[in-house]
Amino acid sequence: MTDHMGTFDPEHIPVMPKEVLDLLCCKPGGTYVDATIGLGGHAEMILEKIQPGGQLIGIDRDKESLEKVQVRLKPFAQSLRLLHDNYKNLPLILNNLAGPADGILIDLGVSSYQLLTPERGFSFQSDVMLDMRMDRTQQRTAADLVNKLSESELADIIYRYGEERLSRRIAAAIVQERRKTPITRCLQLAEIISRVLKFRGHQPIHPATRTFQALRIAVNEELEGLDEFLVEAFGFLKSGGRMVVIAFHSLEDRIVKRAFRRLAGQCVCEAPPELCTCPRQQLANLLTPRPMVPGPEELAVNPRARSARLRSLERV
Ligand SMILES: C[S@@+](CC[C@H](N)C(=O)[O-])C[C@H]1O[C@@H](n2cnc3c(N)ncnc32)[C@H](O)[C@@H]1O
Repeated sequence: MTDHMGTFDPEHIPVMPKEVLDLLCCKPGGTYVDATIGLGGHAEMILEKIQPGGQLIGIDRDKESLEKVQVRLKPFAQSLRLLHDNYKNLPLILNNLAGPADGILIDLGVSSYQLLTPERGFSFQSDVMLDMRMDRTQQRTAADLVNKLSESELADIIYRYGEERLSRRIAAAIVQERRKTPITRCLQLAEIISRVLKFRGHQPIHPATRTFQALRIAVNEELEGLDEFLVEAFGFLKSGGRMVVIAFHSLEDRIVKRAFRRLAGQCVCEAPPELCTCPRQQLANLLTPRPMVPGPEELAVNPRARSARLRSLERV
């Protein structure tokens, strides 16, 4: 996608746009929710499809993204309600504003805009404050976690959310370093990790990648309550209404997969059939029995989409 100057602009490319639109089946006059509106790439396409008479509720916990999206989607102001909130409050929001929805889109995780804006402190390549908050009105930053958590708490986070085998060694090095001086900068942390993992600059991924992912997930509590939220949000779909969720790492995708399978009345306990106690009440049809992934054409223009996994269901 290009911006108004005709230059390539990775911040504005929505992931799997065609798949999202096909699965949401947006119709004129319908009520839709974009629970993670970001810079509004998906929202713009949805808004075009739901005219005349449709409404879109767009939520994001990032005020700066909302300011940008408000400008971008000005031509649709009549059909769009933007809210600075956590999507976990969606049941309350829909109860107050719109009632049941025809479609809900949840494009999880961090946006390219957040990642590519150095001062937001997500990138190990920038010498900026270690921040990583999606919602900058929130108190706790990544630097707070790195400087205040115990060594074992840090190791657990890095292991669980980063799937980093050497989490204990990284946590020990962090604690040793912070005894000398607080760890406040992204590069400072990246260098500590590089020393532990003996980075020589030619591995395919930077050794700090997994630890930075872990801290980001922890700061923003990205996985806490996701399962319950998906089930609650599902309850706000009309019969025939659809939900589309895009996840960007395996931990997230596993939660989405299990929640969707449960709603579709399938077993999630992995016990032998004779011992299975799953409720098996079919409330939804799975529209994607296996996750959809971006095709080669999309990856050629948007390599950042490579880890996306899209799942969708329809309320019966
Ligand atoms: C991958 S981006 C969405 C991009 C968007 N679909 C587009 O086309 O521009 C994810 C967005 O979700 C927001 N977000 C993440 N967790 C959230 C939460 N719990 N509540 C509200 N917004 C959240 C982030 O701030 C970010 O802007």
